[in-house]
Amino acid sequence: MNDMFGYIIGIFGFLFGILVFTYDNLEYKGYSSAHNCSGDCYIKYVEEYGTSVEIEQRKNEIAKTDEFSSIRGLWSGCAACHGQDGQGMGAFPKLAGQTSDYISNRLYAYKNREQIGAMSSTMWAQAGMLSDQDIKLISKFIEEGIN
Ligand code: HEC
Repeated sequence: MNDMFGYIIGIFGFLFGILVFTYDNLEYKGYSSAHNCSGDCYIKYVEEYGTSVEIEQRKNEIAKTDEFSSIRGLWSGCAACHGQDGQGMGAFPKLAGQTSDYISNRLYAYKNREQIGAMSSTMWAQAGMLSDQDIKLISKFIEEGIN
């Protein structure tokens, strides 16, 4: 849950960064990155978002503490079938609640084109593109990282 929250803040910070950056390029008004927002408006802005330095630091902290940052993109592919929280959908089995050993055993089995259920061929392609490191991390993520 905490991870998720940090993740959302991270995305928000990132989008905000883009916004500020784009705005700066559209309408460059000298040094201040808070442009025509000054006085009370600027104080409110800083209260809400922190200074741009604080925003940067927050982003760096999140990247450092999120050991799963490198496989979140990969997981969104898995989640298209297995559900955002690995809860399973229709014919796609639930992954949440499984141990990392169980998940990695299955992934290696699919990688070796073994038949497990009726739809194993769907997973052959998915597992085929995973490196050992991917399998290790995504299995750990499924055990610890999703709810
Ligand atoms: C196109 C849909 C699809 C995608 C994308 C997909 N899967 Fe699957 N997955 C399936 C299906 C269907 C099965 C059941 C296969 C069978 O019958 O053996 C399955 C089975 C599994 C199993 C075995 C579950 C069990 O209890 O036996 C694991 C583990 C798994 N998938 C992990 C992943 C991971 C990790 C990813 C992302 C890298 C992923 N899957 C991406 C459709 C998908």
